[in-house]
Amino acid sequence: MATKIILDCDPGHDDAVAILLALAAPQIELLGLTVVGGNVPLQLTVDNTLRVLLLAGREDVPVFAGCPRPMVREMITAEHVHGESGLDTASGELLAMPQSVAQQTHAVNYLIDTIRESDPNTITLVATGPLTNVAAAFVMAPDIIERLQQLIIMGGAFHEPGNISPAAEFNVYVDPHAARAVFEAGVPIVVFGLDITHQMLITPARLSAIRHHGGRCGKVTADFLDFFNQYDTSKYGWDGAPLHDPCTIAWLIDPDIFQGRDMAVNVDTADGPNLGRTVADWYVVTDEKPNAKVITNGDSDKFFDLIVDHLAAL
Ligand code: RIB
Ligand code: CA
Repeated sequence: MATKIILDCDPGHDDAVAILLALAAPQIELLGLTVVGGNVPLQLTVDNTLRVLLLAGREDVPVFAGCPRPMVREMITAEHVHGESGLDTASGELLAMPQSVAQQTHAVNYLIDTIRESDPNTITLVATGPLTNVAAAFVMAPDIIERLQQLIIMGGAFHEPGNISPAAEFNVYVDPHAARAVFEAGVPIVVFGLDITHQMLITPARLSAIRHHGGRCGKVTADFLDFFNQYDTSKYGWDGAPLHDPCTIAWLIDPDIFQGRDMAVNVDTADGPNLGRTVADWYVVTDEKPNAKVITNGDSDKFFDLIVDHLAAL
């Protein structure tokens, strides 16, 4: 029985790979894509979502535009990482735009309606962007929280420093109030923070494997990841950029690639240098009930082999 998922995303290069991975995996049924403003403004994250579906030959998957900005803070974006389009390529040739367009229904309404209309505990929500759509759905329709099978999040940083501020990871930093509402909602959460995603580096050998063994989609994916590598390799001095978002989908396909444990996680929403920090009770020094499975380690070779094999299957 395939796992039914909705992927809430802000493509974004790594979101794009997460979408392709979900489409290629026989264990996953991608019901729909809800889109949020994040890496680039909402219209561009919607366009990029449509571009990726055209690349995969899957314009049948519905796309829903969601919230264009965070709950409280001013919007911040990441063109410095993803380029002006949000999915810039090394060749300079953007992925083709399809004829298809986003649905009329708002992403938050789609999330609520789909979860309500499905049997309880049959839908997994994956979130790889700021959590504004997810928090809005939980506030508008609290009844969906206990109906969700689980929520898989790419976001936060527990031992790793932040990547957009010294304390915070980008998705949480863009909308820390939404992230706090989600972590306090009581839904079963699996969270992939920078601690694990910074182990998943797109090294030259891995990029070459994607390009030469990933089939038609692999060639295009290598072209945009070649661009994506540029900023982070210069920022961190590593031999590849961390491939964040596909970790969520890889866990659904082969959870044995990763290890983690349940912890109590809080999100700092106070103005100041710690805004957006995700704080995990790593050594259980409080009596707080764990609210998330924090993924801490993984096998990066198995992760990239899985990506290459699935891209080749598209
Ligand atoms: O911090 C990395 C996360 O922020 C990834 O999801 C990336 O796509 C951006 O959304
Ligand atoms: Ca993302």
